[in-house]
Amino acid sequence: MAGLLLAGQGLARLPGPAIRRVPGIGWVTGDPVVARVVLKDHRSFTMVGEGGVGDLWAQILGEWVRDLFDGPGHHDLRTRARDLFTERSAAALVAETWGPVLSDVRARLSTGEPVDVAHTARVLVGRMMIELLGIPAPDDAGNRTGPGTGTNKDPAWPDDAGALAAFRTGERLARLALGTAASTTLSPAAIAEAKLITDELTAGVPRAFRTAPPDRLLGRARELGLDLEETTGLASLLMVAGTETSASAMMRTTALLIDTGEQHRLLAGLNDHDHQNDRTSAPTGRPPSDTDPWEPVVREGLRVTSPASVIGRGVSRDVEIGGARLRAGERIMLLVWSANAAAGPFRADREYVRETRQLWFGAGRHLCLGAALARAEISALLRVLWPAEGAVPLRVVRRRAARRVVVPGYEELVVARS
Ligand code: HEM
Repeated sequence: MAGLLLAGQGLARLPGPAIRRVPGIGWVTGDPVVARVVLKDHRSFTMVGEGGVGDLWAQILGEWVRDLFDGPGHHDLRTRARDLFTERSAAALVAETWGPVLSDVRARLSTGEPVDVAHTARVLVGRMMIELLGIPAPDDAGNRTGPGTGTNKDPAWPDDAGALAAFRTGERLARLALGTAASTTLSPAAIAEAKLITDELTAGVPRAFRTAPPDRLLGRARELGLDLEETTGLASLLMVAGTETSASAMMRTTALLIDTGEQHRLLAGLNDHDHQNDRTSAPTGRPPSDTDPWEPVVREGLRVTSPASVIGRGVSRDVEIGGARLRAGERIMLLVWSANAAAGPFRADREYVRETRQLWFGAGRHLCLGAALARAEISALLRVLWPAEGAVPLRVVRRRAARRVVVPGYEELVVARS
């Protein structure tokens, strides 16, 4: 897959057909404009047919997924879930769920202690999963029988070990998708294992759905009129869509800022931003800067890492696209990372790139539902690593890439003050 993505990046820069057929894979494109056309053409392409992620889910969760993920049920779900994560609610959720862990990271860095950002990202994302899915604390026997976090705030839950375990379980689920590049039909053994994992991770959903207050995700889903089946489906989706992807973007954007030296540009920008805002109190000062210096950094981190590196779709009817004729029943892989990365190297102050827009979150009716949350998560971690006051350059003390994962990331990424 990495080879295909790199080749796709090369092809995206060269003149020639925007879409090609690769033996054993099907159609591929690294062209951002063609990719977006495919994602927006819901009549000709489907995510629940062979080649789409919905096909995997239908085998794991049941046939009802096909309607909820792509049919009229999906439209209905998205219409009602539109306000599930707004910029404001996402920022509040992150502050509340991650506050203590982030304070600890800030304190450790400021005293010169090293911090493993890869571990931290997994713990943070695991905590978010527990919060969003109302995953209850395990009892002494390791079973999850207690009430979910939506109902009963146990001050000791979630803990870091529980958060890490939740993350690893989600990762195990995603790993079952490895090897589906040629076909999204899972083996019976993989289906059985995936069912066990989703049952475990969504065990707290029915209870939290009934009892969670409206300011919790599952309570909000209930208030929006979703039923339990829809909410469980949504919870499973959130779990897979929003765990490894977010953790990967967080750790890799950190590494990118350090490796490319762009942290120095960022630090200079942060200082300017502070000065500019200081001057506003003077009578002749410029208006306060309302541009957030982190916004382009987060966007650029998402562009260059593109954690959902490939989006697959099944072709549901014959269609001509990018100069090629695709037949119903074929499949197409959108090389999202290739399309995004072709725009150039990581720059902390890069302007919005028109061609790619926010292709890292997809496009069309399946555009990432958690985009605001993902941005809030990445930004929260980066702001702690390079705080507005007293930020200094960081260095990587030690790193190790994660092996056999669907989304590239680090097993270990230890950073410290330079
Ligand atoms: C950096 C982090 C993330 C990236 C790069 C990302 C990327 C994507 C992409 C590319 C899609 C479209 C898939 C397709 O069209 O086949 C998607 C869908 C989705 N994402 Fe995200 N995502 C991220 C984080 C999250 C988070 C934090 C959540 C929620 C907790 C989330 C929830 C979803 C859901 C529910 C969908 C399915 C939407 C639908 O089918 O209507 N994602 N994401």
